[in-house]
Amino acid sequence: MRAFTALLLVAGLVGIAVAAARVPALGPVVTVALPYAAVAVFLLGLVVRVVRWARAPVPFRITTTCGQQRSLPWLKSQELESPSGTLGVIGRMALEVLCFRSLFRNTRVRVGDGGRVVHGDRRWLWLAALAFHWSLLLVLTRHLRFFVEPVPGLVLLVQHVDGFFQIGVPELFVTTFAITLALAYLAYRRFANPQVRYVSLVADYFPLFLLLTIVGSGILMRHFAKTDVAAIKELAVGLSTFHPRAPSTLSPVFAVHLLLVSVLLAYFPFSKLVHMAGVFLSPTRNLANDNRARRHVNPWDPDVKTHAYEEWEHEFHDKLTAAGIPLQGAPPPPAAGIPLQGAPPPAAGATSQGG
Ligand code: HEM
Repeated sequence: MRAFTALLLVAGLVGIAVAAARVPALGPVVTVALPYAAVAVFLLGLVVRVVRWARAPVPFRITTTCGQQRSLPWLKSQELESPSGTLGVIGRMALEVLCFRSLFRNTRVRVGDGGRVVHGDRRWLWLAALAFHWSLLLVLTRHLRFFVEPVPGLVLLVQHVDGFFQIGVPELFVTTFAITLALAYLAYRRFANPQVRYVSLVADYFPLFLLLTIVGSGILMRHFAKTDVAAIKELAVGLSTFHPRAPSTLSPVFAVHLLLVSVLLAYFPFSKLVHMAGVFLSPTRNLANDNRARRHVNPWDPDVKTHAYEEWEHEFHDKLTAAGIPLQGAPPPPAAGIPLQGAPPPAAGATSQGG
């Protein structure tokens, strides 16, 4: 039902785009107003979210690592798993962002024959996620040829390498193929795996279907329903230089492509897709694990007025004795309060690490 709702939403957007392509007056809305509004919402939404995350105080190092942290010089530590300084953090972050290292380690637990617990790997999810993200990056890099003139050498190089196999005319890019396959697997996994299906929400299916339709309409434009790429380039260059000129005619497939891209952009900051920015602000990844080297004091620990047992016994000494309750024989407290049992008096400003 949730997948169906997401499918209906995307189908509705496709319907709106196709209908808008038939009404000439709506051309500037779809090709100019909507993309600008989407980019504005995307940028503003992203900035608001990142600033909000960045302002959240993180007084402690949150260590969810599996590696030995640095302590005594003769104990071997693991700088990438449990970095003690900035360089190690950069290394860990780079591996996470570029190779999805923690997803690579994702394992699966199931009850096997004879009730035995079996641990297995989950490399397909990692592979599909990696293929999708890298392909998306390269597809978008190639798309820069529409937005800038002259086309940068790097974009031409990516395009050249991506079309290396020269299959078909125009040639099929490896990343077009890879992104389609990866998205298809990610969608299949949501349906085929009962546990994943159970936890999947409309918000999980919607971006998947949106991306599949964007990719599908792109493939349609390039390989099947030929579109006026020169007119699209004129529009895109106009948009990026803030001198937009809506094309005189709008192909329905391009209208679908552009409208869905705009919706994706505007939806991005409010969806799970915002993990793209969030990963850089994740305290479990971006903080060095120096808990043994440095004492991290919680700045918000309130100055709690304690009342130790010794103080209490002293206060009610006469009543406890009259009632025949055995006393522990606590010594009378010093004038300025009594330290906690066995603990040295706390240094000024230093409080517990709990909280
Ligand atoms: C999230 C953003 C986008 C994604 C994921 C995406 C994806 C794709 C894909 C997979 C293709 C198939 C061919 C290829 O791989 O290059 C394609 C083609 C195309 N896309 Fe996009 N696209 C996006 C944004 C845009 C935007 C903003 C424009 C507007 C200029 C655009 C215009 C086109 C055109 C004109 C083609 C046909 C290319 C050709 O005939 O060579 N796309 N797109």
